[in-house]
Amino acid sequence: MTATLAQTEREMSMETPEFEPSKSGQSMSVQKEREEYCLGSLDQIPPGEGRRFRVAGRDIAVYHTRQGMVHATQADCPHRNGPLSDGLLGGSQLVCPLHAWKWDLNTGKPLFGDCALTIYPVRLTSQREIWVEGIGQEFAQQSGSNSQD
Ligand code: FES
Repeated sequence: MTATLAQTEREMSMETPEFEPSKSGQSMSVQKEREEYCLGSLDQIPPGEGRRFRVAGRDIAVYHTRQGMVHATQADCPHRNGPLSDGLLGGSQLVCPLHAWKWDLNTGKPLFGDCALTIYPVRLTSQREIWVEGIGQEFAQQSGSNSQD
């Protein structure tokens, strides 16, 4: 899906923002534009950190790398539901804070552990707004059992 910024802004002005609290207690305004959701400014996520958001009834984790990239994945670790937004970011690699399973955030493929992450396409506007799409669709399937200890 491709739209110019002017089209997006014009269509957004006709939408009523949803208001959904995240599980972490943060609250935010979520604006829906077709299958894309605006999560607000990237400035709310310090470089090298992640944050949890609730979008369209689903929890996702969004990461801001120290290199200025943004990624979005499922919120909970496929191993034992660790909070991935609290994981360690190194470039485009994420390490779960609980048992150190590790993934490539560009692909969702595991670098340590045997389950892939669901990743969501995400983009930044020239105003540094985060837009995520594909909520409800899985772009990386789990590659194995998630019951390993
Ligand atoms: S809960 Fe994430 S590695 Fe175990």
